[in-house]
Amino acid sequence: MSFSIERYKEESKNLDTTGIDWQAVTASPLSKGDLFCLHYMMDIENHVPLYLSHLLVTRACMDPILTAFLACWNYEELWHGENLAKLLNLYGIEFDAQDRIANVRAHLGFQNSVSILSTMVGSWLLKDFSAVYLTIGAINELSTLTGYAALIRKSGHPVLKDLLNRIIKDERRHYAFYFNSAKEWLAGNEKAQRVDRWMLNRFWVPVGQGVKTQEQVDALALYLFDDEQGEEDLLTLDEKIGRLPGLEGIELMSKALYAARERRRQNPEWAWRLIDNEEWAVAPPKKSPVGELTTRRSHGEAELSVLEGT
Ligand SMILES: [Fe+2]
Ligand SMILES: [Fe+2]
Repeated sequence: MSFSIERYKEESKNLDTTGIDWQAVTASPLSKGDLFCLHYMMDIENHVPLYLSHLLVTRACMDPILTAFLACWNYEELWHGENLAKLLNLYGIEFDAQDRIANVRAHLGFQNSVSILSTMVGSWLLKDFSAVYLTIGAINELSTLTGYAALIRKSGHPVLKDLLNRIIKDERRHYAFYFNSAKEWLAGNEKAQRVDRWMLNRFWVPVGQGVKTQEQVDALALYLFDDEQGEEDLLTLDEKIGRLPGLEGIELMSKALYAARERRRQNPEWAWRLIDNEEWAVAPPKKSPVGELTTRRSHGEAELSVLEGT
C-alpha cells in the first residue's frame, strides 16, 4: 500500500458525483437501521473539522507533510458529509444540514475544550504521541470504509451503493496515509510501540464515540457487524492494524463488537430501541441557541442589528 503526498496534493478534490442517479433515491427503500447509520455517519463526517482542531494543537503542526495531508483530508471529508446529507434530504428527510452540524457541536460543550487541552498536553509531554494519533487515524479510516461497505451490503440501495463506493475510494487513500505514517514512526522505535499499544488498549474508542453515546455506537456496530460476515470484517480490520510494528494481535473493533453484544445480552432492548424509535434526530441544545454559537443570525435579525447600530 503506497502513498505519495505530492500526488495526493495534486489529485485531492471534492467528491466526484457525476452520473449518480439522484432521481432514483426514493425508488428503493432504506430501513430504519440504514437511516440510523446514515445519520450517524453524516454527523461524524461533518465532525472532522473538530477532530482537526485537536490535531493542530499537537506537535503534528510541526510536520509540513502532515499538515498538507490534513488540509486536503479535511476538504474531502467535508464533501462526504455534504453528499450524505443530500441523499437523506432527497430521500425525504427534512433538515437543514448547517443547523444539524451546529447542533451536534453545541451538544459537546465544555467536554470538547477539556479534550483539546488534554490532547495538547499529552502531545507536548510525550514525544511519541504522534504514533498514537497516526494509528488512531488509520483505525478510524479503515473502520469508516469497512462500515460503508457493510452498509452497502445491508441496505442493497443502488444509489447509496454508488455514492458510498466513491466515498470509500477517498477513505482508502486516507487510510493509506495514516497507516504508512504510523508505520514509519513505529518502525525500529520500541518506546513508541509500547506507548502506542498502551494508549490504544486504554483510551481508544470506536470512531464517533464521544460525539455519539455508547448506546448509539453499539446500535451502529450491532446493525452493521453482528453477523458472520460483519464479525469477520472486524477481525480482518484488527489483523490489518496488527501489522503495524508493536501492535501484533491487538483487538480493537472486534472487542468493541463483543462488548456491544454483552451490553445487549444484559438488556435485550439495548441499542435496537434507538433504531426502532428512529433516534437519529438531534434535539436542539438546551442553553446554546445555534445563532449564538455560530454568530449566524437570521436575515431579519441581522437587518435589525444594523438599523439599531449594534
Ligand atoms: Fe469520510
Ligand atoms: Fe476519511
